[in-house]
Formats: sequence, C-alpha cells, structure tokens
Amino acid sequence: MTYTERSGCGTLTLSDTDRTVQLAGWVDALRDHGDVVFIHMRDRSGIMQVVFSPEFMPPEDRRRADTLRVEFCICVTGRVVKRKKDTENPNIETGAIEVIADTLTILNKSRALPFSISEKAMVAGAAVGGTEAVGEDLRLKYRYLDLRRPSMQGNIIKRHKINKGVRDYLDQQEFIEVETPMLTKSTPEGARDYLVPSRVHSKKFYALPQSPQLFKQLLMVSGLERYYQLARCFRDEDLRPNRQPEFTQLDLEASFIDEEFLYRITEELIVRMFAVGGIALSAPFPRMTWQEAVDTTGSDSPDIRFGLRLVEVTDILRSTSYGILQQVIKRGGIIKGINIKGQSDKLSKNVLQNEYAKKVIPSFGAKGMTWMRMTSGRLESNIVQFFSEEEQQAIIQRLGAEDGDVLVMIADASHARVNRVLGMLRLHMAERLDLIPHDVYSPVWITDFPLFEVHGKTVTSTHHPFTAPDRTDFDPSDRKALAELKSRAYDIVINGEELGGGSIRIDNIDVQHKIFQALGLGEEEIKDKFGFFLRALRYGAPPHGGLAIGMDRVISMILGTPSIRDVIAFPKNRSASCPLTEAPSPVSDKQLAEAGLLEAVGVGWVDGKKVVKFTS
Ligand code: AMO
Repeated sequence: MTYTERSGCGTLTLSDTDRTVQLAGWVDALRDHGDVVFIHMRDRSGIMQVVFSPEFMPPEDRRRADTLRVEFCICVTGRVVKRKKDTENPNIETGAIEVIADTLTILNKSRALPFSISEKAMVAGAAVGGTEAVGEDLRLKYRYLDLRRPSMQGNIIKRHKINKGVRDYLDQQEFIEVETPMLTKSTPEGARDYLVPSRVHSKKFYALPQSPQLFKQLLMVSGLERYYQLARCFRDEDLRPNRQPEFTQLDLEASFIDEEFLYRITEELIVRMFAVGGIALSAPFPRMTWQEAVDTTGSDSPDIRFGLRLVEVTDILRSTSYGILQQVIKRGGIIKGINIKGQSDKLSKNVLQNEYAKKVIPSFGAKGMTWMRMTSGRLESNIVQFFSEEEQQAIIQRLGAEDGDVLVMIADASHARVNRVLGMLRLHMAERLDLIPHDVYSPVWITDFPLFEVHGKTVTSTHHPFTAPDRTDFDPSDRKALAELKSRAYDIVINGEELGGGSIRIDNIDVQHKIFQALGLGEEEIKDKFGFFLRALRYGAPPHGGLAIGMDRVISMILGTPSIRDVIAFPKNRSASCPLTEAPSPVSDKQLAEAGLLEAVGVGWVDGKKVVKFTS
C-alpha cells in the first residue's frame, strides 16, 4: 500500500466534492445502521465521516466494515460528497461533507480501550465522554492512547509552535542554540541532584543538570556572546502541581548587556509565546521590587489581577489600649490589614470569627485575626471598643473603608509571618469571593531581591550563588550585612506564578569567591565543587547575564490546562514515577555490580540514621 494520494481527514472541504480521496487514520467512533456503517475517521488533521454502503463498495470490503471497532487503524478510498442539510454535523469542522467509501483496508486492529478517546459526537447534540473521570495514572500508563485525543495532540502541537516561534525570534536576535551536557557535575539550584553512577570510575557519580547555569556562563567566557537552549533540567525536589522532576527551560545568556536588554528580549519572547495561544499581552511589563511585592501582597510572586493589598497600620495603633496588639508592638512586631471591599454581606460575623479567626488563620500559621465590618459609617466588631475614636478614624482612612467593607488585620512579632499569612488570606479570599478576573494575564517583573536568605547561622542564596550583588564591598563573615545585600536578579511572574528568573552574574573571581565564603563553604569545598568554574573566571570573563523561563509552566498557562503534565508528552505522575514504563524500577545485580553499587560491606550512619555502606 502506498499513501501518495492520502488527504488529511480534517483538510477536506466542500470544494473537494466529487473528488476521489485516500484517507488513513483511526476509527474515532462508529454507528451501525444495518446495511450501512458510518464511522468518524480521525487523523492528526481532524475528523471525517466515512460511509460504508453495499451500494458503493465490493461486498468483501463492506463485510470488513462490520468488523471495525474504535481505534482500528485503517485506510479508505472513496468519494467526497456533500451531506444532506439535516444530516450535517456541527460538532466537526468537516460536518458538511462525508466520504462514501469504495475500499477499506484494516491496517491494524485495536484491543478494547482502557478509556474512551473520542471527543466528538457523531450526531449533532449528542454527548461525548470526557476524561475527567479517568484516573491520571491510567491515562499515563496508556499515554500513547491519551495522546491520540485531539485536545492532547493540540497541546503538543501548540507546544511545538511556541518552541518554533522562540527559536525563530532568538535566531533573529543572533542567539546561538548550544547543547550542554546531561552527564555533569552538580550545579546548586536549591534541589537535590539525580545521580548517575559511573561504571568506568568506580564509586563516582555524574549529576544530571538542575539547569545549564555554569555551562552557559562558560559559553560567555568562550566568547559566544548570545546563547540559548531549550534545556531539559532535573531536580529531585518535593513535587507540586506546577513541578516535574524533569522539566524544560528556555535558558538564555548574553554578554555585554544589562538588565534592560534582558527585560526587552524576555518581554518580546513572552508576548510572542502568548500570541500563539491567541492571548495579547503588551510590553513593557510593570515592575515591582521584591520589598514592595512582599509588603503589599505578602508574596514574592504576586498575583496582581486583583486588589486586596496589604496595608500597614502599626503606627496608628502604637498606643492602643488593646492588650494583644500592645504586646506585639512592644516586641517589635507589626500590624497589617486588608480591606475586603463591599463583601460584608458574604462575610458574616460568624464566618469571620468562627471560621477565619479560629480555624483558617491558625491553619495558615498565625495565632489569630482581628476583623471589623463597616456599617453606617462606623466600624463594628467584637474588639472595636478597644480602639479610640481617633484610631478608628485613622484605620478607616488608611484602609479606605466604606460601608459594606470588611477589614481584617493580623499582628505578629514576626514581620515575615504577618506578610505570609495575610498573603495567603488575600489569595484565599480572592478565590472564595470570586474576585479574580478570568482570561486576564497580568505579568510583572520582580526586582531587587535580597541576595541571601539568612536564618540564624545558615546563609543561602535566594537565587543561586552566581547572581551579582548590588555592592561588592561586603564582609562575607558579617551575617547582618549579608542579609541587607540586594541582588541584580529578576523574576517574571504572571498571575501569581513564577514563570522565569535570572540575573546579571558575577564575572569577577574575587567577588565570586567572597560569595562562596559567605555561604559558608571552606576552601577545599570551593575548589572541589567550583574549581573548574573559578579557573574560567581567571581568563578574561566578560560581563554577562541571563535568565531561564519554565516552558512547561508557560505553555500550560497559555493553553489553560489544569496541570503542566497536560503539556508534556510523557510526564511523571504525582509521585515522580512513570506509569507507562514503570520507571524508576529495580535493576539487575549485574547492572548494580557494573556500577560498583553491589559491594555493600556493612552499615554506616548518615544524619543519625543507619545506612548501607559501600567499599570506598
Ligand atoms: P530557576 O531555578 O528559577 O532558575 O528556574 C527557572 C524556571 O524554571 C521553572 N522551574 C520548573 N518548572 C517545572 N518543574 C520544576 N521542578 C521547576 N523548577 C523550576 C520555573 C522557574 O522560574 N539557572 C537559573 C536561571 C538563571 O539564573 O538564568 C534557574 O534555573 O518556571
């Protein structure tokens, strides 16, 4: 059989009427009318109704049509005809025509399906089964069938188009696509590494890259000037709905540039990517410092589609007679509030007190919540009597309170806790009260992050250790000074989701060395982990910077899928395994021996726990 005459099921139109065509694809659905069998035939381009009638085909082919079942792979030849008006099917693009078959070849049969694939009813108005009820692990076990569904194929094809648009644009901008190694040495991005044992070098391991960070910086030292890659990254971290152990970044880096260059390139890329999904965004995107984001939304990846901004009222209540608040202020704490505008009919006293103050807020990690409702120009609640008239008026003014508004306030000695809990409440209320506009995309750059996160004696990088600080004259042993350093990093956030991030990098070896020291790394460790990289910085490194965009997240947002798994052909499930291949799986003793992992000689102790020990 040759397929040289083949037409796509979804490509035929009324203008093909009377043409003889060859179709090859799958049986999407069928209806048996005794003499005549109707099927929906599906290929990548769409669906065509095919009619098997004894009038137009040899008896042998007609009999074969009786054996058809859904998802048989078949080839048909026949004539395109216009359907009668009352038999047109608006469910499919080609619903005005059909193909009257004259031959039928069954290329391969299919077993009964584990779940239904068809998404289009054969008759106008009839229902089709969705996949909502199908367990995700079953879909993933039979992913090749799941991917036959037009909606899933649509996701994969759109992903291809988005990738192609990215490549075309970056090529225009003179970025060079370079592949960096998968078998490499660990790069710190804050997660655990996936390790690959070396057979040749007994007891030694490669790490799969958490990102191509160091290689892209080395490419800048190489003088490539502008690099990009659609790079696979591997991170062994706790899974969340928007995380996969293996995911794809659009990773880029450029030399002799500043932040503005990267903002421009990224904005253009994002505008183009969203346009593939029919979403118009306009650049430039607004910017917000990290401090402002945390202060006003309680989050470093703020959703700015709606208000409910956090407002500080500590100064107003500095001499309040309300004991609990007094205590908090005395301990250096803060009080912040949100005005939930016009929602007092939806948030009764009972809900505010018994649901929020007693349950929701403690579950978010704060002790309690103060609430007030504005009625007839006055605040009312169970604690208003503790506030003086002046304090009440100042609160009303600061929070812009009007009749029908609900004010909630959180006080705590920890500023971070107040922001975090109010930030969670902000999102919770926005969802509960349906305050988030649909089909709106609000990008925002977050800038001026703290360079380090300092908790007691531990100092970690907010992004990664290669991010340039805003000043270089710091003392790496002064933790207080370290906590005050800002970085030249930026994140791109849309609708509260961090889609990408990057920074201007350190290109000076002394500064890089100081950062490692600040992170508490000793000389041996620095040499062992980063010696190769520091060496490169000794050979005339150019000023450079870059960024990486999480492609799975961006594409999932553009296509509006419930999970990033829906835009990945073969994702891992919620427990980081693959129901299709059953990876991860045990390996044979022979493989273990070859990898040098079989020579367990006893037990050792790691972090106080007994573990199997290998010979060294
Ligand atoms: P970062 O770690 O912020 O930066 O990663 C960049 C973007 O990658 C996406 N992402 C993920 N997507 C799916 N599953 C995951 N497990 C996952 N982890 C991260 C996010 C994130 O914003 N080397 C730096 C970039 C740079 O500085 O140039 C880096 O990897 O959308």
